[in-house]
Amino acid sequence: MVQSNENTMRRFVEQVINNGDFTVLGEVVHPNYVHRSPDQLLQGPEALRDLLTAYRTAFPDLHVEIEELVSSGNRTAISFVLSGTHESDLMGIAATGRKVKVNGMILSHFEDGKIVGEWELLDQLALFRQLGIVSTFPGAETGSDEGSAMGIEAIDDQASEGITLVVGGTGKSGRRVAERLQTRGVETRVVSRSSNPPFDWNDPSTWNWALEGVTSAYISYAPDLAIPGATESIRRFVDEAVAQGVKRLVLLSGRGEAEAQACERVIQQSGVEWTVVRASWFMQNFSEGEFLGMVLEGAITLPAADVPEPFIDVNDIADVAVAALTEEGHAGEIYEVTGPRALTFSELAHEISGVAGREVQFVQIPKEAFAQAIDEAGTPHEIAWLLNYLFETVLDGRNARVCDGVRRALGREPADFADYARRIVARGTWGVTSEGEVAA
Ligand SMILES: NC(=O)c1ccc[n+]([C@@H]2O[C@H](COP(=O)([O-])OP(=O)(O)OC[C@H]3O[C@@H](n4cnc5c(N)ncnc54)[C@H](OP(=O)(O)O)[C@@H]3O)[C@@H](O)[C@H]2O)c1
Repeated sequence: MVQSNENTMRRFVEQVINNGDFTVLGEVVHPNYVHRSPDQLLQGPEALRDLLTAYRTAFPDLHVEIEELVSSGNRTAISFVLSGTHESDLMGIAATGRKVKVNGMILSHFEDGKIVGEWELLDQLALFRQLGIVSTFPGAETGSDEGSAMGIEAIDDQASEGITLVVGGTGKSGRRVAERLQTRGVETRVVSRSSNPPFDWNDPSTWNWALEGVTSAYISYAPDLAIPGATESIRRFVDEAVAQGVKRLVLLSGRGEAEAQACERVIQQSGVEWTVVRASWFMQNFSEGEFLGMVLEGAITLPAADVPEPFIDVNDIADVAVAALTEEGHAGEIYEVTGPRALTFSELAHEISGVAGREVQFVQIPKEAFAQAIDEAGTPHEIAWLLNYLFETVLDGRNARVCDGVRRALGREPADFADYARRIVARGTWGVTSEGEVAA
């Protein structure tokens, strides 16, 4: 009996679902068949046939792989992985051409050796994410960080074969990219000066080992693509990467910097698949970057003109980069990614004050005073040069325009500064929690 229920279940999956052979439906499914899932109730074998036909039309290569099957009395339970390519309309969602791979479970009841009732749970959130209908959770907490692309599968076979290198993988963007790749099960190599062995942009002899077995790479250059020598380093690194068999490159770039755009051209001329993620200023500069100390002191003291900048949540950058690394359809794209609205530093300070419940001001100071302050603080020469360059050259309002890179890449809107600020306050990073308590 147990054996025959198990066999019936396997036959149902193999012959009916995977092969679309509905002639055996009557042999494995009871006339009183009822199918329940969180969003629907189907009655009768014909309704089941219609459901399966809809799925097999939407995913002509539909395949259900039973991972585990347990059988007890008149019941069986299976856990399975459903995979397929979305080539036709599914529940009103037009074909996306994307491959999906999602988990599910079915608890089945048997009567007279046939399936009479089923409870099915398919991970529809993962399905819709993979179809690009819903996005990742920009604000989801994972213990270590804001935001993670939980439950998303690596889809693109070419990109997921081999190792994905994340250069600068301990930094603001690289760390999030690495976490998301690892969550997807992509074999990932995180490198920086602190990796073992170390990878140092200033020492090309450290690059070779990092590229062994690598097929895709996320390149976050430090401290900035604008520094003298960056273009030469990127060119040399890209040449070496391509020579070692890397097939896909994703470069994190900055807006309005001629030097960064020169580095973009190196990637574009590499001869392999490339994607540029050209980002506005990071929101996280104020919570884990150079300006956190100023927020904590209550005064964002910068030599910046009070020009608008559409700050972006680094989680959005990571989502775009991971999509480009693991999915088809992003090669040859320059995604200019920004937040949904531009804020001046005064407005930004005002927003932080409102959410944190304590006064944070923007104080504009002369550039000489700023240069002296960062010098006295012992800021490394390279970083001091960069800050002066950014405030003197780049932050003049040229980047105030909001761009649609996140929507183009992910089919959703980028996170707003207010959402980011609420998350940071909830975590106590700015010295107070959302309950108004002073963080420990
Ligand atoms: N911040 C912004 O608002 C902004 C906006 C647009 C674009 N960007 C671009 O973002 C990039 C920086 O990314 P991020 O803010 O995510 O970085 P980040 O948080 O400053 O972290 C820098 C990363 O690079 C590594 N690193 C530093 N010096 C290195 C070196 N000499 N060789 C190898 N690795 C090194 C660091 O790890 P170790 O210390 O272990 O080496 C770390 O993993 C820059 O290219 C910048 O142009 C930034």
